[in-house]
Amino acid sequence: MPETISSHNSGSPVGSPGDEDSTARAVRSMFESVAPRYDFLNHLLSLRRDLAWRRATARALRDVLARPGSLAVDVCCGTGDLALAFARYSAGQVVGADFCHPMLASAREKAGTAARAISFLEADALRLPFADNSVDLVAVAFGFRNLTNYARGLEEMRRVLKPGGTVAILEFSRVNTPILGPLFRFYFRRLLPKIGTLISGVAGPYQYLPNSVTRFPDQEQLAVMMREAGFGKVDYRNFFAGAAALHRGEK
Ligand SMILES: C[S@@+](CC[C@H](N)C(=O)[O-])C[C@H]1O[C@@H](n2cnc3c(N)ncnc32)[C@H](O)[C@@H]1O
Repeated sequence: MPETISSHNSGSPVGSPGDEDSTARAVRSMFESVAPRYDFLNHLLSLRRDLAWRRATARALRDVLARPGSLAVDVCCGTGDLALAFARYSAGQVVGADFCHPMLASAREKAGTAARAISFLEADALRLPFADNSVDLVAVAFGFRNLTNYARGLEEMRRVLKPGGTVAILEFSRVNTPILGPLFRFYFRRLLPKIGTLISGVAGPYQYLPNSVTRFPDQEQLAVMMREAGFGKVDYRNFFAGAAALHRGEK
């Protein structure tokens, strides 16, 4: 495939280039620093669209979730909003996994008040604690972009999925419409880092956000990466003209 695809395989740019472990540590400590304000800022900076996108993702996956006994894993679950959205439709088990303790603590607190039980565990998305061919749905919302190695992330998700299982990636993407595109980029690249930094009181993460999205594969490129990783029936849909996109595939 084109060079642009393989050049994206290396994943997140945070930390020392070429050293995936130190990059992962930098990502984790970045989320530790924003955890207390993560939900508030997410909802504010997206005008609560992030919640609507996760709900739409759960609706799009309800057939899998509604299977009795199904196991759905929300990888890089952070404060657990996707897992919580899944729980509304689940007739089985929902598990959230993340490697950042303070984000998980917030997820557990929120799930404590939810009607259905969701379990959360501390785990690296590149080494998931699930057996081969054991999971019905592996999903990730706004977390895939942060992985230090996208190809390995896809490989690991595919490993744990049952044959016929579904992968779903909700991630920021590209707005390519003539007027909305430049307006959105101005907001996302210029205003958002300033507001995020001001409110969180932490300098790095909200500059990292637009930078990481800029270098992240666009809709078509991510679809190609998923096919290259061995997924079939890959498709995607845009939210808000492509500000975010939901990609799906099947093992
Ligand atoms: C932008 S947040 C997204 C959180 C949540 N999924 C949401 O929709 O708000 C990214 C999350 O990915 C987690 N993360 C990044 N790399 C990870 C990895 N290798 N393994 C597990 N979690 C990871 C971070 O700790 C953080 O909680």
